[in-house]
Amino acid sequence: MKKILTSLALLGLVVAGTAAIAAEEEHNAAAPTHFPINEPKEMSWSFAGPFGTYDKAQLQRGLKVYKEVCSACHSMNLVAFRTLEGLGYSDAQIKTLAAEYTIHDGPNDAGDMFDRPGKPSDHFPAPFPNEQAAAAANGGAAPPDMSLLAKARGVERGFPRFIFDIFTQYAQGGPDYIHSLLTGYDQTPPAGMVIPEGTHYNPYFLSGVSLKMPKPLSDGQVTYDDGSPQTVDQYARDVSAFLMFVAEPHLEDRKKTGFRVMVFLLLFGALVYMTKRRVWADVAH
Ligand code: HEC
Repeated sequence: MKKILTSLALLGLVVAGTAAIAAEEEHNAAAPTHFPINEPKEMSWSFAGPFGTYDKAQLQRGLKVYKEVCSACHSMNLVAFRTLEGLGYSDAQIKTLAAEYTIHDGPNDAGDMFDRPGKPSDHFPAPFPNEQAAAAANGGAAPPDMSLLAKARGVERGFPRFIFDIFTQYAQGGPDYIHSLLTGYDQTPPAGMVIPEGTHYNPYFLSGVSLKMPKPLSDGQVTYDDGSPQTVDQYARDVSAFLMFVAEPHLEDRKKTGFRVMVFLLLFGALVYMTKRRVWADVAH
């Protein structure tokens, strides 16, 4: 009896908790100051799910978008050129790519700093010498470093989705957010909303009504050689996938290893169970 009562009490607690969370969600949805105003759109990514892999052609296009557009403002300090092997480039191609950049190095034997062409082991040079300079050039907000941006951003999914996410292995919150942010400009703010001067309205921005980054992409801005559509939507998908890759270059290995471990645990579990049956077979129950 006592047991039943405790279970009932527990159940009551769970139900009450669920109702409270649901009520809070509803309240948040109604309040216009809860950011982001729009939730990111869920896209289909090649690297999603337990068997996901990167689409190398897409990553190469994403790199092109980063190089030609985003790198004017955003650094990628933790990423070495040789990491781009994961995009399917050969050693020679990476050497050529690295050599396109000028790296400030030194001091040499005479104690002087000097410039030299990049090597595969160098990291992408930053567009600004320091964060203050980056902020000063961008109306007071420094563009965040992009090395881990795809893993550092993501909108909270709320109850009950975060529970389902465990089973569907949803881990694309970062790229979904970046894609929505990049395609979320050009919208009219709701009547009565005040947009601070020098900022740009974007209902997908996580931390306010608007941000200091002007709309970075427009149709036809970057030339693709593989016939992919040259649209803002495609650029945004490609650069988001690329940012996911630089943030997690070993994603494919991680997923493969995870799958092998699960298979091993299943087989091992079955063997342990059979052994237990064998060992206890002669004991009368
Ligand atoms: C003209 C400079 C400029 C360019 C070009 C630019 N950005 Fe930004 N970006 C910024 C600034 C400034 C911020 C900080 C905005 C703020 O906090 O108000 C920012 C912030 C961001 C953020 C973070 C938003 C957040 O939640 O904090 C993302 C993601 C981003 N940029 C992606 C990109 C991508 C992808 C590209 C290339 C397609 C790009 N940006 C090109 C200046 C730029």
